Parts: sequence; C-alpha cells; structure tokens
Amino acid sequence: MGQETFVAAIDQGTTSSRCIVFNKRGRIVSSAQREHRQIFPRPGWVEHDATEIWANVQDVVQRALDGGGIAVDQLAAIGITNQRETVVLWDRETGEPVSNAIVWQDTRTRDLVRELGAPVGPERFRERTGLPLATYFSGPKFLWMLENIDGLRERAERGDILFGTMDSWLIWNLTGGTDGGRHVTDVTNASRTLLMNLRELDWDGTVLERMRIPRAALPEIVSSSEVYGTATGVLAGVPIAGALGDQHAALFGQTAFSEGDVKSTYGTGSFLLLNTGAEPVQSRHGLLTTVGYQIGDAPAVYALEGSIAVSGALVQWFRDQLGAIENASDIEALAASVADNGDCYVVPAFSGLFAPHWRSDARGVIVGLTGYVTKAHIARAILEASAWQTKEVVDAMAADTRMPLAELRVDGGMTANNLLLQILADALDVRVILPEVTETTCLGAAFAAGLAVGYWSGLDELRETWSQKAAFEPAIDEKRRAHEYRQWKKAVARTLDWVE
Ligand code: G3P
Repeated sequence: MGQETFVAAIDQGTTSSRCIVFNKRGRIVSSAQREHRQIFPRPGWVEHDATEIWANVQDVVQRALDGGGIAVDQLAAIGITNQRETVVLWDRETGEPVSNAIVWQDTRTRDLVRELGAPVGPERFRERTGLPLATYFSGPKFLWMLENIDGLRERAERGDILFGTMDSWLIWNLTGGTDGGRHVTDVTNASRTLLMNLRELDWDGTVLERMRIPRAALPEIVSSSEVYGTATGVLAGVPIAGALGDQHAALFGQTAFSEGDVKSTYGTGSFLLLNTGAEPVQSRHGLLTTVGYQIGDAPAVYALEGSIAVSGALVQWFRDQLGAIENASDIEALAASVADNGDCYVVPAFSGLFAPHWRSDARGVIVGLTGYVTKAHIARAILEASAWQTKEVVDAMAADTRMPLAELRVDGGMTANNLLLQILADALDVRVILPEVTETTCLGAAFAAGLAVGYWSGLDELRETWSQKAAFEPAIDEKRRAHEYRQWKKAVARTLDWVE
C-alpha cells in the first residue's frame, strides 16, 4: 500500500491566515495559523498588507506540513478559501501591490456608492448582480483606487495592473506569480464584486461601463472546483484545485448541498447562507443573492445570504480596545456570571449595518446603561448582539422564501462558546446544531479541491463525513424572547443617522 494522502486548505481570513490538512474522513490532521496586521488609517478605513499576507500564507503552509510530518507529495490537492470582497491591485510585471488592500469592512466608498446609485438608488444593479450598492463589495473599492491613485487608471486600461480578491492574489502567486502566474477568480468570489452577472456568471458589460471599471484588469472567472494550475514554491507540484469565498466554503463544508439547507458561521462577522438550488432568488428583504458554489462544469448552485459585519470582532474590541477581558474566550464565563443583560444592549455597527438594513451611516451604540450595569452585563449583551443580528436575518429569509427556519447548523471560531449557542437557540427559537468539525471553511475548500482530483468520489461521500457534535434547544419563554427582541430593535434604531 502507498503512503497516506491528504488534502490541504488555505483559509486567508480577515484577521489571520491558516492552513489545515484533512484526511479522507474529513478530519483535521494538522494546522497552523498566523495573524496579520489590521491597518486603520482613518475612522472607517481598514487595510491589509497583501505582501505580508502572502508571506504568512507560505509560512502557515510550511508549518502545517512540518507539524503533521507530511511531505508535500502526500498532498493530493490544495483548496483556497478567503475573506471575500477585500481588494488587492498589483503590477503584472513586478508582482508588487500598488497599495494596501482595501478590506471588506472599509466604508471609505460611502459617497462613491451613493453617486453610483443615482438616480435609481442602492438597488440599481441588484437585478444583474444580486447585490445592493454598498461599501461592502469589491467593485466600488476598485473604482476608489482607480480614482485616487495617480496614473492607476491608465495602467489598468493598458492591462499592466491586475485586480483580485484574495483568492486571485494567492492563486496567481502560488502558480508562479510574475513567472506565468494564473490570473483567475472563482465564481463565488466574483459574485461579491458587484461586477458579475449572476445568471451569465461572467463580468457584466453594462455594470462595468457604469462603474467605469476596465475589463483588462479583471481575472478570468472559473468554477469553485477544477484544477487551476500546479503550485510552485512551498507547495511545488500540488494541484490547486478548489477556491471559494469563505462563507460559500463553509456552506460546502457543512455539506449543505440540498435546497433549503442553511448554515451560519460566526467569525469576525457572521454570515448565514441558505441553499436555494439552481435558481437565483431575488431578495425583497435586504438579503444578498450569491453563488453558493459551482463544481466544475455542473450548473451553479445559488444561495441567499444574510451578512452581519461584526460578530467575533465585537468580542475582540471588548478585549483589545476596552481591555475588559484578557482572552476572547474569557467572555463566556464573564457573561455566564449574570442571569441577563441588565437591560443593556450593544449594537456593533462599526462598519455601518449590513443585512438586512444596509445603512453605511449607522454607528455602534451601547444603550440602556444604568449604575446597575456591570461589565458582565455588557459581555452578555455582546453575545446577544450576534444572536439578535442572526434573528433579523432569519426573519428576512423567512419573509423572502415563506419558509420558516427548521434548525440552524453553525460553525466558526465563536462556536466554541456554548453560552453563545444557547443564547442563539433562545433568540431564534430553533435547535442549533454544532458539527464535529467546526473548521468548515477550510473543510469546504478541501472538499472542493479533493473532488476535482478524484480524492473524494462525489457529494454523497462528503455527506457521510459530516457528524453532529452537540445540539442546543431553546429554553426561554416567548414573552421574554419577544420583549428582548423589541428592546434590541429599539437599540438598532438608535444607530441610524449618527453620521452627518
Ligand atoms: O464577507 C466577508 C467575509 O468573507 C469575512 O469572513 O471569516 O474573515 O470574518 P471572516
């Protein structure tokens, strides 16, 4: 018998880059992680250094292999998953980024977005792209760079500048960079740019023209599961065979392959995706229509998404900016030390409010303060904020699809917090289910890559790897739920119109 083989995934996330190696049963055999700098040049601006990220990615890959005693030729394939919407532009000849990457949370394009919508408003491109005009998406960030970096537009129009989300940046570098690197993006990442036609799965000429985006800079759109090329460097010889935006990867990693399946991931932000099958469903209640995944030549599977900008990031803020706890995980015990929130609510509108409100002018609030409130109450209100934001999205989904949520599969770093999962079950009034492998983002990218090279035979084999670790049942009465949700909605109303 030959040596055991594995599939690896790189998850280039908002705060860190990770590499996880999986075996045939979809279990983790090795992993490594490294954080990168969050650069905040002005209020509302968030940047990353793409060169630092590329160095970190190579480092975590090497450490994951070394840590597991895995030789590079034991990898059957590698998949990529990434923070979505974050934009990097680089020089085709030198491989150098032209500036820091503009991160998805950045709201500098607020005026630009308003101008792009005129006179129709934020829904101007929804029919074509599935998305409202908002600062969140990649297209306006690209336009901002074209209009604010000297000489960039001319260079981009000549084809000297390459545009990408993090998947493009990594695949281009992994496949050789200036020495023949492939400039591609997967269809799920492309569906977050506001530039892709959701039905044609190609760049939309009308939108490009109206947004003044040069086609010459854009990558080729490819499926989420096919061999894009062979890696060089640290992964020399390994087929790069899968790519999905992180939330789409989590949907895939949760094996949510059937129409009606839902998952919610709790990371920096939190993102709920509902598989809607072969047809894109247009939302009338503030959700996004997006590509769930596309496996090779098969038709794309679509999803409805409720995006929440701030979830785990609020716990980090409580730790780093307020110094209220030492480790993020300490919030669980602190919040559990009180029975309720002391009538205090925290709405973390740090990047405005995403779904279902889409208000980039909103700013965060803590309301209901009295002398009675302690940091333990605030800790509890912070966890509740993730749950109530999820409830708003779940309500919007039910309104769009007329199908009430039956149960919720969750994953992501924050789901190590049992109290959060209980609060979530209480707020939603449904069973919350935690899978055995909660690193579903990496798992989904590994699944996509493994399918493309025949490491796994098909969706049925992937489904068999999924198992449940724990379930949380709702345990509060309807009166309390309704009262707290009303209070939450009042708190949300306080976040609006703060910015002049
Ligand atoms: O849309 C942004 C999302 O992809 C970021 O995910 O896990 O890095 O918070 P995460």
